Amino acid sequence: MVWSSSLAMGLSHVIMCLCVTGVWCQVTPLSLNTTTTISPTTPKPTPANVGHVTVIGRNETSITLQWNEVNGTGITYELKFSNGSNTTISVSDGNGTVTYTVSPLTAGTEYNFTLFTMSEGGSSIGYNFLAVTAPANVGNVTVMEQNETSITLEWEKVSGTGITYELKFNNGSNTTNPVSDGNGTVTYTVSPLTAGTEYNFTLFTMFKEIPSRAYNFIAVTRPLSVVGVNVTGQNETSITLQWNKVNGTGITYGLKFSNGSTTTISVSDGNGTVTYTVSPLTAGTEYNFTLFTMFKEIPSRAYNFIAVTRPLSVDGVNVTGQNETSITLQWNKVSGVLMEVNYLQSLLPSMLRL
Ligand SMILES: *[C@@H]1O[C@H](CO)[C@@H](O)[C@H](O)[C@H]1NC(C)=O
Ligand SMILES: *[C@@H]1O[C@H](CO)[C@@H](O)[C@H](O)[C@H]1NC(C)=O
Ligand SMILES: *[C@@H]1O[C@H](CO)[C@@H](O)[C@H](O)[C@H]1NC(C)=O
Ligand SMILES: *[C@@H]1O[C@H](CO)[C@@H](O)[C@H](O)[C@H]1NC(C)=O
Ligand SMILES: *[C@@H]1O[C@H](CO)[C@@H](O)[C@H](O)[C@H]1NC(C)=O
Ligand SMILES: *[C@@H]1O[C@H](CO)[C@@H](O)[C@H](O)[C@H]1NC(C)=O
Ligand SMILES: *[C@@H]1O[C@H](CO)[C@@H](O)[C@H](O)[C@H]1NC(C)=O
Ligand SMILES: *[C@@H]1O[C@H](CO)[C@@H](O)[C@H](O)[C@H]1NC(C)=O
Ligand SMILES: *[C@@H]1O[C@H](CO)[C@@H](O)[C@H](O)[C@H]1NC(C)=O
Ligand SMILES: *[C@@H]1O[C@H](CO)[C@@H](O)[C@H](O)[C@H]1NC(C)=O
Ligand SMILES: *[C@@H]1O[C@H](CO)[C@@H](O)[C@H](O)[C@H]1NC(C)=O
Ligand SMILES: *[C@@H]1O[C@H](CO)[C@@H](O)[C@H](O)[C@H]1NC(C)=O
Repeated sequence: MVWSSSLAMGLSHVIMCLCVTGVWCQVTPLSLNTTTTISPTTPKPTPANVGHVTVIGRNETSITLQWNEVNGTGITYELKFSNGSNTTISVSDGNGTVTYTVSPLTAGTEYNFTLFTMSEGGSSIGYNFLAVTAPANVGNVTVMEQNETSITLEWEKVSGTGITYELKFNNGSNTTNPVSDGNGTVTYTVSPLTAGTEYNFTLFTMFKEIPSRAYNFIAVTRPLSVVGVNVTGQNETSITLQWNKVNGTGITYGLKFSNGSTTTISVSDGNGTVTYTVSPLTAGTEYNFTLFTMFKEIPSRAYNFIAVTRPLSVDGVNVTGQNETSITLQWNKVSGVLMEVNYLQSLLPSMLRL
């Protein structure tokens, strides 16, 4: 029930009373000029958000941020992580830039930050931005195998999700190699390549288009093998071989004997043939040779061939008997060699194994 008292009509204001179940409960002054009666405390303005935050540097463990100061005095900044923790950044007043490095962080991680401007007037609504740390570098790249046209590499994955790998060649081109998340090894075959060539590789891990530090390594392809060997001469103690050089620079040749010993043959770069005399050898002997090329200690596929030395000639043949139908000859035996006897009359050779 609401009523007005006529006793109050002479006053400059009306007192209105609200009675609930007969109890005076509130007196409300009307038409009071409140602005004149309330003490004039000017509220401090809420500070503005920063205009923009730039990531000016980063590595595996830190992100460096920069922003323009907000005008005003007594301004500080509070950087809040998405996990709720925050850090206060005090700066001197001014209209310069603030540079702040957030650390320690985890490599290859996206962080959701909110930057608040703080003053006596309170906190700004917050400037929200994302920033990522650089992914970890690969630890170790192993060349698993190589042939004339390809090199197979292996490395351990780095921890993190959404990581890819980018392999860059010395010619500047690069290739991206996405892999599944999780632990394990990545095996990657680089192809096509040129035989007997040294390649400079750079492997990056990539996270949200941010590369890791570079991992540099060198790997070589297997050199070409020789396609044929000609025996161009032999005598009792040596065999002369000839073959065409293979393409490439810095190629050497290795000649392996069946007993396992190997001779390295250095040749000049460029086209042409190689002539090489193997000596000393034993007369009348069959040799199994393996010829291979070498480039930076990587051997080519083997080329196997057989060559023989000339047998010793028989000296001092004595006629030890003769009759109408036969002549008996005697000479010192040359071991393991087929002998040839020429009949003077017929000039037809007769072979005899002794
Ligand atoms: C309140 O007071 C101010 C200054 O004292 C005056 O300018 C304003 O007009 C007044 N308002 C009312 C509703 O009386
Ligand atoms: C990352 O960068 C910060 C700031 O530049 C530096 O202090 C730190 O040593 C760097 N860490 C690595 C692992 O490079
Ligand atoms: C900050 O103050 C400078 C001069 O002190 C002025 O030129 C600039 O416009 C101000 N910036 C803002 C956002 O008010
Ligand atoms: C920062 O952290 C403190 C204490 O941990 C908390 O009182 C404050 O509200 C936080 N600030 C923001 C902007 O979240
Ligand atoms: C703020 O900027 C103005 C104009 O660019 C400059 O004159 C003044 O020195 C700056 N103040 C500070 C504290 O850097
Ligand atoms: C970042 O965090 C803010 C508040 O904590 C949230 O509103 C926003 O969606 C988050 N952004 C992303 C990309 O997660
Ligand atoms: C690289 O890997 C090879 C083979 O797995 C290992 O022998 C070598 O010690 C590793 N090197 C480094 C620096 O981890
Ligand atoms: C080289 O190795 C790759 C991968 O193992 C294979 O695909 C290719 O056929 C090989 N090339 C030659 C010439 O052996
Ligand atoms: C790889 O190549 C692409 C395009 O050719 C280029 O945008 C990118 O920056 C390169 N990456 C690296 C790590 O060089
Ligand atoms: C990867 O390996 C590390 C240590 O070797 C282990 O702590 C982690 O749980 C493994 N993660 C996965 C996804 O297998
Ligand atoms: C490869 O790298 C080595 C040193 O890292 C350098 O001496 C060589 O010139 C490079 N080769 C090419 C073809 O870039
Ligand atoms: C090897 O002999 C063949 C047939 O006589 C000849 O065509 C070839 O050019 C020779 N090769 C070399 C390297 O001398």
